[in-house]
Amino acid sequence: MHHIAIFASGTGSNARKIIDHFAHSPNVHVALVVSNKPDAGVLHIAREHGVPTHLINRKSFYETEELLAVLAEHQVDFIVLAGFLWLVPASLVRAFPRRIVNIHPALLPMYGGKGMYGMHVHEAVRAANETETGITIHFVNEQYDEGDIIFQMRCPVAQTDTPADIARKVQELEHRHFPDVLDKILGQPEYVATQ
Ligand code: GAR
Repeated sequence: MHHIAIFASGTGSNARKIIDHFAHSPNVHVALVVSNKPDAGVLHIAREHGVPTHLINRKSFYETEELLAVLAEHQVDFIVLAGFLWLVPASLVRAFPRRIVNIHPALLPMYGGKGMYGMHVHEAVRAANETETGITIHFVNEQYDEGDIIFQMRCPVAQTDTPADIARKVQELEHRHFPDVLDKILGQPEYVATQ
């Protein structure tokens, strides 16, 4: 049984899909939701579903081992970043080698890096007149959006699409694919060594 933690800073629509997807799974248990924002929608979603939550601040995240202890307490062996905007510290990457994945709302390596999140990404895609965009699910290393890519899916961008239209298309792809891709990763020992 994998015990996963979802890290999220925002509304948590992907977290909701993941929690629902694994609600009755014999293999994967969503053990914890971690957020850096006390008013993040994702915390309400977690509470609605009876998933324990943990709030972090910059100091505790970057300068202490507090989070590692909380993750151990909940037996977490895999971390999913679903709209989590802080750079993951090296100590956490080392503690979870190839066991942290992120979803990015564009086709990496394009439109990634610091400051490229949410609507900023879709605005940049619009400004560059791209004819397609998509999603990327990748392992997390010490750099923003640079870990090995696991999965990508594309969607067309019409000339008339606004950044909000692009966001809707991308979110639809995220909701459709992220839980399934996690299911596959967690089911494959070559991706994730069992404990
Ligand atoms: C998602 O679109 C995710 O790809 C993006 O934040 C959104 C969170 O939405 N992540 C990034 O931009 C990371 N660089 P949600 O809170 O509704 O799941």
